[in-house]
Amino acid sequence: MSVSRGGFSSRMGFILAAAGSAVGLGNIWGFPTQTASNGGAAFVLVYLVLAFSLAYPAFMAELLIGRYGQANAVSSMQKMSRNLGQKRFAFLVGFGGIICASLILSFYGILAGWMMSFAIEPVTQLLGLTDTATWLTTQSMSRDLLFTSLFMMLTIAIIRRGVEQGIEKWSKRLMPMLIGLLILLIIYVFTLDGSKEGFKAYLNPDISRVFEPNLLISALGQAFFSLSLGTSVMIIYGSYISKKENLVTLGAQVTLIDVSIAFLAGLLIIPSMYVAQSQGVAIFADDGSLISGPNLVFDVLPSLFNGMGAIGLFVGFGFFILMSIAALTSSISMLEGPVSFAVERHNLERKNATTLIGLGILALSTLIIFNFTTLFGMVISISTVYGQPLIAMLCCIFVGWIWHRSAVLTEIKEGNDTVEHSIFWKIWPWYTKFVCPSAIAIVFWHSL
Ligand code: PHE
Repeated sequence: MSVSRGGFSSRMGFILAAAGSAVGLGNIWGFPTQTASNGGAAFVLVYLVLAFSLAYPAFMAELLIGRYGQANAVSSMQKMSRNLGQKRFAFLVGFGGIICASLILSFYGILAGWMMSFAIEPVTQLLGLTDTATWLTTQSMSRDLLFTSLFMMLTIAIIRRGVEQGIEKWSKRLMPMLIGLLILLIIYVFTLDGSKEGFKAYLNPDISRVFEPNLLISALGQAFFSLSLGTSVMIIYGSYISKKENLVTLGAQVTLIDVSIAFLAGLLIIPSMYVAQSQGVAIFADDGSLISGPNLVFDVLPSLFNGMGAIGLFVGFGFFILMSIAALTSSISMLEGPVSFAVERHNLERKNATTLIGLGILALSTLIIFNFTTLFGMVISISTVYGQPLIAMLCCIFVGWIWHRSAVLTEIKEGNDTVEHSIFWKIWPWYTKFVCPSAIAIVFWHSL
């Protein structure tokens, strides 16, 4: 099986693909939005600490499960189970992750569709098509259906090509574009009036807020969503890494890229808000907090771009293309979860499995679009507030309590001979066994 299932051809291929999955709307939209609604720099500080101290260990657990199993999430976890009870538990956790990834994709596709329609809007403005421009930026079922379908078609087209020709090749093309665009936009915003005040709000933490329970919960949730945990995605990506690679460093590099891009996105968006303010746009809500949520991305920023005159059309185009690219490298990872399961467990041909599952998820998105007010928020909560933390916690329990410590060590030693004497091996096993599950459980409990 391992011969035909494919894998990443290079270390860089894996890093960019896994970072592509991790870096998405969660970083470029979610992180700045959460920062804005949780008091600026204090949130950034807590996020950085939690991402490395809790999300990274859990991320390592998922990567290891996959690389050991060399298969989809369910088969990988079953491979390390020793009796029927454990095998059933493994099925529950692995399949739960696959369902979670599919649910996330069903709403993520709608959000990504909005990004695409906002990216095309400046082009229609340039062509003088004002009616189309208004249609593109006004919420409607027809617009959402069209752009969600377009986005899902792109996702399906990449996953149909497989790991190397699809995921790896496209991540290698899109990720450098994304980073380049992000840096260009930051430099541009830096030159505008008002940005300095924004940098201050972003970089000067109010230490007294650091221990606020809501801030801690939001930061941990954000870190888990951002590293794509609890969705089977990192298990399957782990299964495509060669046994020669050092997983400890690879995992750390991906975490570092993910966190840095979230940080950079904040460096773009929070100062942009203050620039918008200096141009007369309201950036504070009635209760005195910074505007966050969809209003930030779809009202405040477009008003900023409008205020820039002709160049604003290009900046707006660049910004929403950036969002669309980030979303695409994440959505392909979400689709790979269920597709790898269907191919390996049910012997479906990859292309057929991808089209079938992709269209199934699109049908779910369509259902959400038709019942937007009831379903949209509900699917987001089920998958991200409950599903992800729960499954990530069960993965840690699996690695900490079910998998033998000596077997875990043998797997980590592949590509990393000296790991036994490293600080990683002194801390991480305890962390995964006790600290991660309890911390996730506490956050989960609070979010209920
Ligand atoms: N990590 C992605 C983001 O930040 C979202 C994601 C969640 C991707 C779950 C895959 C699985 O947007």
